[in-house]
Amino acid sequence: MSRNFILFATSNDIVAEIRKTVSNVGYCIVRGLNLGNFGETERNQKLFDFLSQLGKLTNHKNDDELKSTFWDIKYRGDDYASNNDITFSEDVGECPLHSDSSFSENPEQYLVMYVVKTANDGGNSLFLKSSDIVKELSKTDIGSQYLHILTNNQYPFKTPKSFDDKQGVIWGNILSANTPMIRFRDDCLYKGISENQEKVTQEMLDALDYLVNLIKNSNDIQEFSAQDDDLIIVDNANGLHARTDYTDKSRHYIRARISI
Ligand SMILES: [Fe+2]
Repeated sequence: MSRNFILFATSNDIVAEIRKTVSNVGYCIVRGLNLGNFGETERNQKLFDFLSQLGKLTNHKNDDELKSTFWDIKYRGDDYASNNDITFSEDVGECPLHSDSSFSENPEQYLVMYVVKTANDGGNSLFLKSSDIVKELSKTDIGSQYLHILTNNQYPFKTPKSFDDKQGVIWGNILSANTPMIRFRDDCLYKGISENQEKVTQEMLDALDYLVNLIKNSNDIQEFSAQDDDLIIVDNANGLHARTDYTDKSRHYIRARISI
């Protein structure tokens, strides 16, 4: 595997390198931040200062608290798991390819994850470029027809309960005709469709089913692994991400999202 996606925090022009690498490859790792020995507050402040060079970090509660900007991706414990409707970020195991904030009006450009502790049995990152999905769809007549449907119709994305109690639906294109933009999370889409069946045609549903299958079986999915103290930066506008399976309950990442 090419290692050109690994950048070093000591580089003079690290911010420009991050932008360029994420734009070309779809993701990068910044290595050597040396934040592993700081306490949580100081580490998150340093992460905030570093990441603010890339854009505006999403604060999920619109307050000034760092804890509303950085989210622990970590198993929450057996008690919590048995008493709550837990999300992928609160559980171990694999997670399917998706883009973050697909149910928001303006999904962020970057997803970032700081690695506190890797899993000892997997939990690698996966990435699939939207341009590879479009290329694959365009190879066949039926794929091209479905691509046309996917770019020319608004689909309903249901907001997950864990994100917003009000659970609204937003309508958006899964793929864009003029840019490599992709907005995709299949559980939100299928929930949105089940509540809006009268507004979704059979051909829209067929196109989505075809896309879901193509994404799952794509040969273009890239896999990469990180190490403790790495900062992973992923293109959330032009690609999908996922993680491979693992069972290690001590795996700990910290997530933030950045708009440019
Ligand atoms: Fe995600």
